[in-house]
Amino acid sequence: MDHDLQEFAETGDIAKDVGQRIELVRHFASTGQLPFFQQIDSVDTPRVGIRGRQCVLLGSNSYIGLSTHPDVVAAAVEATNEFGTGTTGSRLLNGTYRLHVALEQQIAAWLGHEEALVFTTGYQTNVGTIQALLGDDCLAVVDSLAHASIRDGVRLSRAVEAKFEHNDAESLAATLRSHAGTRYHRILVIVDSLYSMEGSTAPLERIIDACKDAGALLMVDEAHGIGVFGPTGGGLTQRNEVAKDVDILMGSLSKAIGGLGGFITASRDFIDEIRLSARSFWFSTSATPGAMAAAATAIDIIRSDEGSRRRRRLERNSRLMRDLLAPLDVALQRPDDLGPDWSPIIPIRLSDEMRTALSWNQLRDAGVFVTPAIYPAVPMGEPILRVCMTSELSEDDVRRCADVLTAELSWALAAV
Ligand SMILES: Cc1ncc(COP(=O)(O)O)c(C=O)c1O
Repeated sequence: MDHDLQEFAETGDIAKDVGQRIELVRHFASTGQLPFFQQIDSVDTPRVGIRGRQCVLLGSNSYIGLSTHPDVVAAAVEATNEFGTGTTGSRLLNGTYRLHVALEQQIAAWLGHEEALVFTTGYQTNVGTIQALLGDDCLAVVDSLAHASIRDGVRLSRAVEAKFEHNDAESLAATLRSHAGTRYHRILVIVDSLYSMEGSTAPLERIIDACKDAGALLMVDEAHGIGVFGPTGGGLTQRNEVAKDVDILMGSLSKAIGGLGGFITASRDFIDEIRLSARSFWFSTSATPGAMAAAATAIDIIRSDEGSRRRRRLERNSRLMRDLLAPLDVALQRPDDLGPDWSPIIPIRLSDEMRTALSWNQLRDAGVFVTPAIYPAVPMGEPILRVCMTSELSEDDVRRCADVLTAELSWALAAV
């Protein structure tokens, strides 16, 4: 095959046949042009080494730089020395170490719920929790852009699924009303707090009102909100002072907390119900000692003055980047999504997948590594380049990257 991305982007000619697409992907992978599965050879936060060159990383979910924080790394090393590299057992059997239990107590106390439960990944947390709480006599009402792990959990639970328009509390209320005549054992509304691709934040107060009116429970996925928002980094629910109105709060240990894992925090009754029936909790090896110790130290930092300083730097960088990119007029967020808020995630919408891939390559060649998202991470036909800010970028980094984005993307955006 002898095509290059420019040719595809100009003609809009993307192979429709699955076999041809695989061939295309292999071709671009062999020439280093495939924007997915890129191999990172070195990390020097906020830069990474790819194919022998340093790129500023605008794709990391380590929003406040904790994945390479020396204290967090030291905690992981120390726990690994003491307990080994893995637990080699499920939490149910030989995989519950004092590190897991201590982390659960720390999380529950921090976020103000009775108990917490730690899973090996955030994905497993959502899938296992929803499967444990819902059955085929239940209703799950989910934001149309909720994370894939939420949708997969609903499927596994066999609950009746209803979707409502993204961030639209009216649409949620109407959906709940349309099911008012049916008796369900449980109705669970599930939303993200900060949407990982759109960068939008949920209108939590209005969602809570709709849930209360309908007698529905509310589960909020704070995977991207934890560590980013709130006076002690407890997420959007903490910042908006609505934590007490959230029945089940999910968090990831793999984004701002910087390691690997996930957690649920809720009442003792819900946690026991999840502990005793979440299949992804039972049938998988528990999180490594290193991951548990790293998360505990990262949470201590998040709650401290240092955490607040890091969040302020993140906010400053996010606001600056958004202002600098304003002339491109491309972010998906509508002003009413954001309100007075800021978001570390700035999506840039392009017209098609080939143009997205080509633009990604041009940015990488110019030393800026953003992450592309295509279907099913975003709706079909709405590919984006996801620009993600961290506290570790200097003001100079932000300004230089904004210049590169503006210069390199004008060609691709002309066609949007
Ligand atoms: C909103 C949301 N929820 C859950 C997850 C899964 O978390 P983890 O990456 O820790 O498995 C992700 C990760 O992409 C996410 O963005």
